[in-house]
Amino acid sequence: MVQPAARVRGRVRPPGDKSISHRYALLAAIADGSSTIHGYSTGGDCASTLRCLRALGVHIDHAGQDARTGLDIRITGRGVRGLQAPADTLDAGNSGSTMRMLAGILAAHPFACRITGDESLQRRPMRRIIVPLERMGATIASTDGRPPLTIQGAERLRAIDFEPDVPSAQVKSAVLLAGLHAEGVTSVREPLPTRDHTERALHAFGAGVHLDGRRVIVAGGQRLTGRELTVPGDISSAAFWMVAAAALPGSEVTIDEVGLNPTRTGILDVLRRMGAAIETDAHASAGEPMGTITVRHGTLADTAVAPEDVPGVIDELPVLAALATHGGSLRVSGAQELRVKESDRISALADGLRRMGADIDEAPDGFHVRGARRLTGGEVDARNDHRLAMAFAVAALGAAGPTTIHDAGAAAVSYPEFFSVLESLRA
Ligand code: S3P
Repeated sequence: MVQPAARVRGRVRPPGDKSISHRYALLAAIADGSSTIHGYSTGGDCASTLRCLRALGVHIDHAGQDARTGLDIRITGRGVRGLQAPADTLDAGNSGSTMRMLAGILAAHPFACRITGDESLQRRPMRRIIVPLERMGATIASTDGRPPLTIQGAERLRAIDFEPDVPSAQVKSAVLLAGLHAEGVTSVREPLPTRDHTERALHAFGAGVHLDGRRVIVAGGQRLTGRELTVPGDISSAAFWMVAAAALPGSEVTIDEVGLNPTRTGILDVLRRMGAAIETDAHASAGEPMGTITVRHGTLADTAVAPEDVPGVIDELPVLAALATHGGSLRVSGAQELRVKESDRISALADGLRRMGADIDEAPDGFHVRGARRLTGGEVDARNDHRLAMAFAVAALGAAGPTTIHDAGAAAVSYPEFFSVLESLRA
């Protein structure tokens, strides 16, 4: 149950970035030598990646846990094509990133391997990776394009030039990771640019990746070298506090050691357009820029998120909808991908916010929230979707009464500490 808040104030170091944690673990597993990853995400999704890698014969030690920066792990790489056939079906839990990106690596391992996930993951579309990976030479059985997948990897993979229909960093990454193992040069050209963490991570582990306009190019046959790397804090987790600060008068929140990769900072642009006062201070960078973000409340304005903005804020759209319940309005279009996330995020968001008293219209590819009236609070269902659980909590801060969020535990998929941090920021 979330009570309304007058304001939020304080400093937060968010958990390690989920997208970057997956990539560092996957690349460390197929690198030569061992890698140490500091600040690995504490979320359930990144634990799913480690569980799958262990089942594929990868040795992973917990090198420690720092209360401030999260997990430190040590991974002993097995080298390119060095994974072992698992004894059982792999379980990717709730994590689409784990399933899709690991599929790109498994496509190059000449054994059959079954991979499944929870109920939500079993509903998610996989044809987007099956098509390119089969073109490269793997064979992938599914249930009508959905998990479980049975991947028969190929002894030799063919390089391809691929143009996915949907902008998706997971799809791009699956093809690039398979391309690393292929004969020849693989390229991916996306309809809109998406997060480039795989490209940066490949580079950090010593592989060459090139850009030609919007085409990302990787040559097959390269080897990776184990590294010591630090994962920046997750800007998508930080977004909940940035929005809470933007929404509530008198608020100020500083986020420390957070990732500032330009393919992820779309949230800052939208928050500025909505009226928040934001300062950033970029410093240390080891392949991934990071720094400090401070957000203060501002008067909320009417804002639109256009289709070309969507990949840069795809995971932040639920919490931006929550922001618009505090004032101003937000119209989002070209975001049909939200319907195939951990839940149908358009319908679940509209349903939940409406139950709290919001004025929200749903469209096939987005939504329109008008924040002129104060929420009442109420009872909502996060439908086992982490980002909805946390977005409803941020909307609830501005309501007249308390809000009960069912399935709120889903937050642990990316941010186990979310509800305790929320209590610490109440001023
Ligand atoms: C991610 C890419 C996005 C995003 C997801 C993480 C990644 O998904 O929504 O939370 O780490 O590459 P899509 O690739 O399906 O757009």
